[in-house]
Amino acid sequence: MPDFLDINKTAPADLRTMIDQAASMKAARAGRPKGTPDDDQPLAGQMVALIFEKPSTRTRVSFDVGVRQMGGQVLVLNGSEIQLGHGESIADTARVLSRFVDLIMIRTFAEDKLLALAEHATVPVINGLTDRTHPCQIMADIQTFEEHRGSIKGKKVVWAGDGNNVCASFLHAAGRFGFDLTFTGPVTLDPEAEFVDQARSEGVTVTIERDPTRAVAGADLVVADTWVSMHDDADVAERRHNQLSPYRVDEALMAAAGPQALFMHCLPAHRGDEVTDAVMDGPQSVIFDEAENRLHAQKAIMRWCLGV
Ligand code: CP
Ligand code: NVA
Repeated sequence: MPDFLDINKTAPADLRTMIDQAASMKAARAGRPKGTPDDDQPLAGQMVALIFEKPSTRTRVSFDVGVRQMGGQVLVLNGSEIQLGHGESIADTARVLSRFVDLIMIRTFAEDKLLALAEHATVPVINGLTDRTHPCQIMADIQTFEEHRGSIKGKKVVWAGDGNNVCASFLHAAGRFGFDLTFTGPVTLDPEAEFVDQARSEGVTVTIERDPTRAVAGADLVVADTWVSMHDDADVAERRHNQLSPYRVDEALMAAAGPQALFMHCLPAHRGDEVTDAVMDGPQSVIFDEAENRLHAQKAIMRWCLGV
């Protein structure tokens, strides 16, 4: 059974199937109370472990609710309270968990831990964010974009700020879904060359543009994220603030993008830093649709992993 480790490791046809299934599962639940089960119960009798080595609101709640809606059961494990890489090897933890649960989702720091877990588990493993990537988020973002604007193929996405883990998964998605991505931020915070090169090798245009106003011209989507991620040292905050202030997404920047442009942020946001209240709460923002779609997109990802 397949793991969902990164968007670039998943076949385009499978990604498309997941997005379409997420949309149809969302439509099937329209207007229903949140606690009611889905008509289909594909996870009936299945147990899902959710491991968190970093804080989470959306990932934790959306996976938990999604499993329950599909008839499964959930174990939420705090990384500091289990022996993951502390008291025993990741390989042994993976083998033990595989005797108890049918699916593992992990949010961790080092990508190596995710990869070791996936290598040694005999059940599928889902990446719920590492220091390098956040694929579940971008699946929800693709679903959200297409809900509002139709196919994302050939569209222009602009990433403003730090070329971080969420940006990396957007670059993976650019290659797989066929959209162009412009990064605007300071040279010191460029996305890793590996992510840029891979997207380009899949035939899409990746542009690095230091001037944010020029970068957003004609954008279909402008995306921001926190300037300081969970894996960053706290002492980068002041320097990041100075470096990234010119890349704050405000009403003037959204006006430069044009009325066709949507605004996304994976949340949690630092209002007033990377994005202003006026943009967060303005007519181009789809941030709460994005948050909701974590539920639907991840339900489709889990079904794909389990083949149900
Ligand atoms: N966007 C996202 O992954 O949010 P959480 O950190 O709250 O899970
Ligand atoms: N880049 C952020 C995303 C949080 C969902 C972080 O890694 O902290």
